[in-house]
Formats: sequence, structure tokens, C-alpha cells
Amino acid sequence: MGVLALGPGVSIAEALDWGQDATRKPTPWDELGPFYKRDAPHLAQLRQPADPGLQLSVAGQVFDTRGNAIEGATLEIWQANDAGLYDLDGYRYRAALTAGHGGKYAFESVMPGHYPGRVCQHVHYLVQAPGCKPLTTQLYFATDPVFDGDPQRNYTKDPLIQSAELVRPVTIVRTPAGPAANVTFEIVLERS
Ligand SMILES: [Fe+2]
Repeated sequence: MGVLALGPGVSIAEALDWGQDATRKPTPWDELGPFYKRDAPHLAQLRQPADPGLQLSVAGQVFDTRGNAIEGATLEIWQANDAGLYDLDGYRYRAALTAGHGGKYAFESVMPGHYPGRVCQHVHYLVQAPGCKPLTTQLYFATDPVFDGDPQRNYTKDPLIQSAELVRPVTIVRTPAGPAANVTFEIVLERS
């Protein structure tokens, strides 16, 4: 450590931490909504082979605001099916995921349908990790027809969307089973 001189009361950990602060903005909050259910199954494959709707693959990483990946973070996700219906009796399109190495998570689903009472297609998230503030948020899709091709301008058409950051770009790819939508959604938690 010949290049690092520590003043009185400064630990090596603090010294190395300095300069790494706030490299990522926390993911904006959004409402929990009325359809959350506890104890969702641990699975990443929400779409069953015969399910109607556009295939949707979501992947991302969980970080804290200093840019540290949070391996072991828990992500609970829930959404309507292609017809805009939530499963209130069971656990279709509901899952609990654990972020792996590098804070990575992914799940396979279908594009959620529109439903009365909400303007935009969305997937709900509740993300928790030790030492971090729990986050409820929602993922939206730039391809949602509500946005008329311009989510930066039109995201306020859904009064629950408080930040255009939650509206994610969608890449449509060809698969043997037909077209599929790929979306990346990074989560940044604040330390508690
Ligand atoms: Fe919802």
C-alpha cells in the first residue's frame, strides 16, 4: 500500500470506498398494486407451451447504488396474462427469483395484456436484499401502443408511471416458436 497514506481514524475499507459513491441511480419506485400474493413459486419459466401471447424474455442484474452486484437478492414478479387477467386463485405468472452471480436474474413469460383500470402493459416487481431498502416497482414496454412510439413524451398517459426510466426498450427476435420480445431491466437498490 505504498501509495496510500491513511489519516488517523480512516480505515483501508473507507479509503478504498471513497470515490465509488453513487455510480448508479436507484430504480424509481412504483406502486405495489392490489394483486400481489406472497409465497410465489421459485421458477423462472412462467410461460407454458400452450399459453397464448407474445413470448417475453426479461433479464437483468441487481445492483446497489455504488454499482456492487447483489448476488442473492430476491425478486418477486407478478403480471397479468395475455388476456389481461391476474391469477387470483393460483400462481400463474407469479414467481420468486434469486439473483445469481453478478446479480443476474432472468425469466420467461408472455407480454402482459392490458386490463381495465390500468393504462399500460406492465410487470410488477418487489425486490429485497439484506442491507437494502425493499423496492416495489413496475416494468413497462416501449412497444406498448399507448406510447404511440414515443414513450419519452407519452409515458405520462399512464398516471402511475412516474419515470420514463421504467419504460424499457423491446427487441423483437425470431425464434423457432415464433417472434419473441427481449427486454433488459436493471434494478438498483438503495442501501438501508
Ligand atoms: Fe398490475
